[in-house]
Amino acid sequence: MTIGIAIAGCGAAVPSTSLNNHQLSQLVETSDEWISSRTGIRERRIAAPDRSLASLATEAGEKAIAMAGLTAADIDLIVLATSTADDLFGSASQVQAQLGATRAVAFDLTAACSGFVFGLVTASQFIRTGVYRNVLLVGADILSRWVDWDDRRTCVLFGDGAGAVVLQASDRDRLLGFEMCSDGTQNGCLNVAYQSQPRPLIDNITVARGQYLPIIMSGQEVYKFAVKKVPEVVEKALFRANLTSDRLNWLLLHQANQRILDAVAKRLNIPDEKVLSNLGNYGNTSAASIPLVLDEAVRQGKIQPGDLLAISGFGAGLTWGAAILEWGQ
Ligand code: UT7
Repeated sequence: MTIGIAIAGCGAAVPSTSLNNHQLSQLVETSDEWISSRTGIRERRIAAPDRSLASLATEAGEKAIAMAGLTAADIDLIVLATSTADDLFGSASQVQAQLGATRAVAFDLTAACSGFVFGLVTASQFIRTGVYRNVLLVGADILSRWVDWDDRRTCVLFGDGAGAVVLQASDRDRLLGFEMCSDGTQNGCLNVAYQSQPRPLIDNITVARGQYLPIIMSGQEVYKFAVKKVPEVVEKALFRANLTSDRLNWLLLHQANQRILDAVAKRLNIPDEKVLSNLGNYGNTSAASIPLVLDEAVRQGKIQPGDLLAISGFGAGLTWGAAILEWGQ
């Protein structure tokens, strides 16, 4: 018998400081009108210098564990989807320590804005095989630390946040289908690249001692990619679930740009009222954006047990993926 997967709880955390479009126009040559009409973003949250990615992830994780009716000691595995760990070696074990999840093993997973979907699929494999029963999946990013605050093409887009879900082994399988894709030939469209500076050691041996550069993005290329590939991957996940888009109650896309959300929904023939969006308040929070919008809709009572959801993430890599879920335990 295959072991099913259900989402038992969700949670979110965002920094308290908010930066709106008007304030951004003091920094770069832009306007609220341009940012709102081209992206739908009005404000975003910014993490203070002393706020760690791990603490933001922990706060979201605690709320998800509480909603699931569990304690940290019940968690078997923690997967932290992030591209902005406090430490290049990873931040997941810090989350484990801060939660007091003494039984859990924890690791980071990096897939940029697809991180939450890829993390969901990865975590689910451990549950399906019977290895773990309770998995905490957190999507968290502090992209404000990697933005070029002099580049108006990118600095207006991103924000900081964390969202989490508890995935649980269940008699009734609520993960109905998924699909994941990547295309490294288009890697140069969106990067936080490492710039190496040669440092000769001895004789013929030279090492690289460099630094990571701020985010660069070919906005139009990524836009075209998203509008073409996201509907395709949602259709594929729906096919695996033996469902069609008209059966969906909610579409939860990575919150990159309202125009992308609208275009994807149109291609999938999904009416606007089924498309969840909170990017006006938070901007693009990378791996956090799907669980942030999910948590908001669950706590507002929009998403109800039995509802069918399609989630889809897309971004750097390039990577993209989708999963079809039924809400409820
Ligand atoms: O999470 C990863 C996924 N990332 C994405 O999904 C991002 C996808 N791309 C996009 O969302 C859009 O391409 C952007 C929002 C980034 C840009 O919108 P666009 O409609 O593609 O604008 P554009 O790049 O074609 O730029 C149009 C004009 C340019 O001026 P010129 O060359 O026409 O004179 C830009 O210099 O808008 C200018 N511009 C700005 N003006 C005011 C670019 N950024 C700004 C700005 N304020 N912040």
